[in-house]
Amino acid sequence: MTTDIARRISRRRFLEYVRQSPLFAPLAAAAGLSGRAGAAEPVIGDPVEAINVFDFMPPAQKKLSAAHWAYLMTGVDDNRTVEANSEGFRLFQIRPRGFVNVETVDTSVELYGTRLESPIVLAPVGHQRAFHPEAELAVARAAREKGHQVMLSTFSSVHVREVAEAHGAPLWFQLYPTSEWSVTEQVLRRAEDAGCPVVALTIDAPAGSNRETLRRLGNRDKNPQCGACHRPGAERFVAGHPTFAGIDYSRVRSGLRSITLELVERVRRATKMKIVAKGVMTAEDAELCVKEGLDGIVVSNHGGRQAESLLSTIEALPEVTATVNGKIPVLIDGGFRRGTDVFKALAIGADAICIGRPYLWGLSAFGQAGVERVLELLQAELVTTMKQSGANSLDMITSAYVKRRSA
Ligand SMILES: Cc1cc2nc3c(=O)[nH]c(=O)nc-3n(C[C@H](O)[C@H](O)[C@H](O)COP(=O)(O)O)c2cc1C
Repeated sequence: MTTDIARRISRRRFLEYVRQSPLFAPLAAAAGLSGRAGAAEPVIGDPVEAINVFDFMPPAQKKLSAAHWAYLMTGVDDNRTVEANSEGFRLFQIRPRGFVNVETVDTSVELYGTRLESPIVLAPVGHQRAFHPEAELAVARAAREKGHQVMLSTFSSVHVREVAEAHGAPLWFQLYPTSEWSVTEQVLRRAEDAGCPVVALTIDAPAGSNRETLRRLGNRDKNPQCGACHRPGAERFVAGHPTFAGIDYSRVRSGLRSITLELVERVRRATKMKIVAKGVMTAEDAELCVKEGLDGIVVSNHGGRQAESLLSTIEALPEVTATVNGKIPVLIDGGFRRGTDVFKALAIGADAICIGRPYLWGLSAFGQAGVERVLELLQAELVTTMKQSGANSLDMITSAYVKRRSA
């Protein structure tokens, strides 16, 4: 038996094992795999071999520890929100138009004073050194190379200034406030000094989350080496994170979970950055955002990592865009794995979409080259979908291009 055949058989056995494992359903859902093509077999050894973003999952899983893989993939409880995010796209079908010249297609969009080459933005993800030693630097370089906007997490493994340099263009900053306002103020100033024009305030984590997949595979008590990076107690929130380096955080007791309108007002007074609410899922909150003078919305359920039994984001999008009615930009994330997913969201009125896990698969598997290929694949699929649908610019993609199934 040749090594290649042996490798294929052992991979098949592995997949069989994974399929039978009670962990598979949640992980497949997190991947956005239910009802989708899935990953290549055997495991790809080079990013160019990937034909879709799912092809990065097996090599990513191979490279990561079980705990870090679980951190990447986890949902909460029975992972129903994660599943919903993926399933939601099936409810919407594209209505293609003919008689349009689609020889060239323009995917650029103007947001917050900058023309972005693509409406595909990289969502904020904390602790990226868990996935690759070059962490956010590799991601920022890939995004620069391929022309995408990056939103940087409060919990980035690299200082915002360094990531901005690697990106070569302003980043958008995502904010988790702390229990100590003066610390939050300094974090905002730091982001502003690094040239960030936008701050995304994450509003969808008002409580701890029951990340069972992570709890099963990431049991730190059983992995004493985890203590090298993970801090216990209140320290956990701030210590060791470059965002807080050099700031006196001795009085921080925790993250500030409840994001109230008073807090929004404080942020507004403390910064010149445009303020975007990340985690809006209803028309009511969208209306509040407009009324309170916020500068944008990210329709998001945190990739199903916070609350269970939520609507998919693509299903929540119509009520949000109808309420906002173009007054402020609306972005969306959650389960975007295909160019058609992106197209559907744009048709329902989103100005841009964000991806989380797919670029992390690329990062984990191959570093910068992996992220680049993920972005290339999604962008190419979007362009193909636009051509096939008869839309040669994002402005053309209106609600007439999509229809919701009746059942
Ligand atoms: C490993 C991981 C870490 C994340 N960290 C953050 C974070 O620090 N701040 C935040 O607002 N959202 C965070 N998110 C949520 C993402 O910004 C985004 O909402 C979500 O990943 C989108 O769903 P998708 O992964 O299905 O594309 C994280 C997501 C993942 C997968």
